[in-house]
Amino acid sequence: MLPLASLLLLVVASGLLSANAAPNRKLLHSMGPQGVNLWRLDAIQKSRPVSGLMVQDSPEIEMGAVSESDFREHWFTQPLDHFSKDTTDTFKQRYWINTRHYKPGSGGPVIVLDGGETSGEDRLPFLDTGIVEILAKATGGVGIVLEHRYYGESIPVANFSTDSLRWLNNAQSAEDSANFMRKVKFDGFDEDLTAPKTPWIYYGGSYAGARAAHMKILYPDIVFGAIASSGVTHAQIQYWEYMDTIRRAATPECSDHLVNSINTIDTILGIRKLKKPLKALFGLAGLKHDQDFASLLETPLGSWQAKNWDPEVGSTKFDEFCEALAKPPFGHHALRDLPFGDDSRMVRLPGGLTVDFAVLNYAKYIKENVVSRCPGDMSVEDCFGTFDDEKFQDISLDQEWRAWIFQVCTEWGYFQTAPPDQKYPTIVSRLLTLEYESKICTQAYPPGEHFVVPLMPNVTIVNELGDFDIAADRLAIIDGEVDPWRPATPHSEYASDREDTLLRPFKLIPNAVHHYDEYGLADIQNEPAEILKIHEEMIAFVQEWMEDWHAGRR
Ligand SMILES: *[C@@H]1O[C@H](CO)[C@@H](O)[C@H](O)[C@H]1NC(C)=O
Ligand SMILES: *[C@@H]1O[C@H](CO)[C@@H](O)[C@H](O)[C@H]1NC(C)=O
Repeated sequence: MLPLASLLLLVVASGLLSANAAPNRKLLHSMGPQGVNLWRLDAIQKSRPVSGLMVQDSPEIEMGAVSESDFREHWFTQPLDHFSKDTTDTFKQRYWINTRHYKPGSGGPVIVLDGGETSGEDRLPFLDTGIVEILAKATGGVGIVLEHRYYGESIPVANFSTDSLRWLNNAQSAEDSANFMRKVKFDGFDEDLTAPKTPWIYYGGSYAGARAAHMKILYPDIVFGAIASSGVTHAQIQYWEYMDTIRRAATPECSDHLVNSINTIDTILGIRKLKKPLKALFGLAGLKHDQDFASLLETPLGSWQAKNWDPEVGSTKFDEFCEALAKPPFGHHALRDLPFGDDSRMVRLPGGLTVDFAVLNYAKYIKENVVSRCPGDMSVEDCFGTFDDEKFQDISLDQEWRAWIFQVCTEWGYFQTAPPDQKYPTIVSRLLTLEYESKICTQAYPPGEHFVVPLMPNVTIVNELGDFDIAADRLAIIDGEVDPWRPATPHSEYASDREDTLLRPFKLIPNAVHHYDEYGLADIQNEPAEILKIHEEMIAFVQEWMEDWHAGRR
């Protein structure tokens, strides 16, 4: 999930800058918990036809490099509304299938990966060398990637108005999956591989990980097994723990620089005559609102989530940012060992500002890596200002961010704020309040004729399905130790501990960030030890589940 402010630019840029540029779905792939916090950059990028700068920032983008001919698209017809007769409209839901390891007549299993809040195309690597391929190979099963309604090409409506989005909710999309599992008929297969006749194993990462867990609870008759990886089964309106996880997991030096720099910046923003020179240092003198300024400062923190064990897909930007903050001026290396704010680390600047050199480095980094992406013919207010409602009125289908943010505003929350309590240190400005982070919900989704977005999301809809304690036989919970989404999973420090068993696997991958098990290499023996280990464990419990199936134990 992005800090909400950053999606604003997305709209700005795509609406004002690139009216005639073809939307690049790849750049806008990661809307939800999957996402890196670099939206506004994505947006600017989107507005510039020839540039691959942002491509490095996102694991999912690079992973999307599987050639499309490897897997062909298939389509399944779904009712737009599963629960009411108000509309009889239908739409086509896209999926892909991997039958490399399937032995006809063997009766399954089917391993289905829920595409979640992005184009299913971004998930194809998981069908090719990732978790779906790994489990299909281990079980002689069929692998599927199933695209989620309102994402990729599975778009059931003509625009993303508030009314058109009203069929985008957890209940409808879970029912899509259930309907698919009960009825799908695979091209070229005479065999009936539908559930519950055939065992289905439902996999998801992140938002889709929560969906996997929910499917096991809601449809135990057709979901034989489920694996929730980084599954955010706990929805929370104010999700300050996202940034706090990064604060605690970063190196002590980096964390110290971040906490102290932000503290300095917050203090200076409170001093009328110093505020302007400070913003100018970041190249943001023209940005009207301090909150928009503060919000831009968290942009590099998004690269934490973009880390991956596989250097082919992971970003190294977070560490580069930390290194940039720590770099002493004029090569005075000894300064690095002195505490933040030490007299000899202070730099005197125009406008009466005197700051630790880390603050200066922060400013330089933002200027060069964030502000620089704002095209020369636009003001920084045009690019990064979020208080003008007009910027969010375009409801056309290329405004892909509208789908996930609608889910955030109605059912999921996760507004990434500073800690609500002053007693916690913070790596993001205390100006990033719930009010600021959630204002997009009223700005972008005015009341429709048929649907009104609530003042705050109703997270009970998610949490009543089990929350931190969600559990069932053959529901596996897999999380990453330093994943900023971990506090929203059953591995949260707020959750009770559980045993890890074959029937109810409960595994935390050391040093891992977001759904690290979803990625895999063609030969898993070449994977780093921790990843090979989790894959071997997953193979073992899924094989055990399959033995249960064949023994008639369900
Ligand atoms: C959005 O699409 C619906 C049909 O799905 C249509 O009735 C409505 O007029 C559209 N809204 C706008 C503003 O174009
Ligand atoms: C929130 O969702 C729960 C669970 O579906 C429901 O019982 C409750 O009425 C909802 N609250 C509001 C204010 O709509």
